[in-house]
Amino acid sequence: MSKSYDVVVIGAGPAGYIAAIRAAQHGKSVACIDEWQNRDGKYAFGGTCLNAGCIPSKALLESSELYHRAQHEFKKHGISTGELGMDIAAMQKRRAGIVRQLTGGIGGLFKANKVDGLVGHGKLLAGRKVEFTPVDGEPEIIEAENVILGSGSVPIELPMAKFDGDRIIDSWDALELDAVPERLGVIGAGVIGLELGSVWARLGSEVTIIEAMDDFLFMADRDVANAAAKDFKKQGLDIRLGAKMTGATASKKGVKVDYEDASGANSIEVDKLIVAVGRRPFTDGLFADDAGIQLDERGFIVVDDECRTRVKGVYAVGDCVRGPMLAHKGSEEGVMVADLIAGEIAEVNYDVIPSVLYTAPEIAWVGKTEAEVKESGRAYKTGSFPFAANGRAKALEQTSGMVKVIAAEDDDEILGVHIVGPMAGELIAEAVLALEFSASTEDIQRTVHAHPSLSEAVHEAALSADKRALNYMNR
Ligand code: FAD
Ligand code: NAI
Repeated sequence: MSKSYDVVVIGAGPAGYIAAIRAAQHGKSVACIDEWQNRDGKYAFGGTCLNAGCIPSKALLESSELYHRAQHEFKKHGISTGELGMDIAAMQKRRAGIVRQLTGGIGGLFKANKVDGLVGHGKLLAGRKVEFTPVDGEPEIIEAENVILGSGSVPIELPMAKFDGDRIIDSWDALELDAVPERLGVIGAGVIGLELGSVWARLGSEVTIIEAMDDFLFMADRDVANAAAKDFKKQGLDIRLGAKMTGATASKKGVKVDYEDASGANSIEVDKLIVAVGRRPFTDGLFADDAGIQLDERGFIVVDDECRTRVKGVYAVGDCVRGPMLAHKGSEEGVMVADLIAGEIAEVNYDVIPSVLYTAPEIAWVGKTEAEVKESGRAYKTGSFPFAANGRAKALEQTSGMVKVIAAEDDDEILGVHIVGPMAGELIAEAVLALEFSASTEDIQRTVHAHPSLSEAVHEAALSADKRALNYMNR
């Protein structure tokens, strides 16, 4: 007799494993299938995020940032360390240890919530059946009341710069380098290009980033993007905008990267080339032809606002469906779907999803950019406050950047908050909550913020929207 569950989830990334746990919390019988295999041959839950994305990148960003600060800031604090050393193997061991702990933790959470974590390949068949092939066994059929597809995404490969795992590499390889490349090229000044470019630049690489768009960080507010661009330039990141790669040739000596920009044809020579031009949904072998699942023209599984596919009882969440490819977006979709399956009312507020770049300074925003508000035709006001005037930022020796608040002129509702500066990724949480509650700048203005804290910059930016900043000249 075949096994059966109330809910079968395919994919144990942040979208899938969270959906599985939430469904189990509702008292459902749940299985979660995943086939992720790490470079050491071990299988692990957690998907891209925990194994090769969010977590390992932040571990290396922290290590490299500490190294950079020890080199450049300690003197100002009156601290001398003697000759500073760097042990990449130890840094990578720490990174791998964090990943191991967190991915192992998911196994523990599955046990605690009575989710059956199944290691192997899952394939949706017609009639809400799932074919599960264990990594070391024969396929078996599982019956499911509900199926949640959370198969994630993979890096986009460019035909003229195919990944070879050595010279031309993807973000996963770039997280596991065992030596600092002398010259590092990056295609794409997006989130991965900037985060991983920063890691290796701080550790000593000469980093050149080739970006096709003319505008730096085109999706961000212009004031924030311009401030960040200045900082990255100071840090030595060579970002070439309006530059389209035309070819990359790997040899024993390195990679020759050809590109075209306004000045014509150019080329650079690097030791390693990271190609980070976006990710695409991954659905290979995920469903049978007659399962009824539809893909859009870009390969995303077609779903409605509640992540329902066209097949009754089959949902899809995370990077394999429309919307930003972010772990927290996928997790919230997982929660929503599990709640819907349990008969509850649930939704994801797609207008209020924070974006964070964990560079130094960090960049974070939520809501609309000034350009988007302008285009909407709604009358608006802005307020901003520089970290240079914030006491905590001074003490931290991190005074670069600012907070910018955009609000409606008529009813003062906050429409967007944009931060470039220390701990922007943490500070944005207050703004996310404000937008979720449709708060006004006055709500933040009249909220007591601890002193001295970086959050006072958010407070002051809200005050500044009404020309009431207290610790800075109002413009
Ligand atoms: P994934 O995490 O990709 O998980 C999908 C899982 O499904 C995988 O384990 C895969 O093996 C498995 N799977 C697929 N098909 C099958 C099948 N048929 N059978 C069994 N298993 C299957 N996002 C952030 O929000 N913050 C960050 O700081 C951040 N940093 C990142 C840094 C890097 C370098 C990268 C590459 C990404 C980063 N992201 C970040 C993006 C984030 O990793 C993704 O948005 C997130 O992992 C998507 O979650 P998911 O569950 O949809 O898919
Ligand atoms: P991205 O979409 O952020 O950036 C890709 C960049 O490459 C764009 O600026 C694009 O204009 C450029 N590009 C595309 N083709 C090009 C070409 N041929 N030549 C030169 N430039 C080209 O994608 P990225 O950085 O690969 O990241 C993938 C996803 O992972 C992102 O969508 C993001 O959601 C997620 N991620 C999130 C992080 C975070 O939240 N902190 C960190 C890392 C990744």
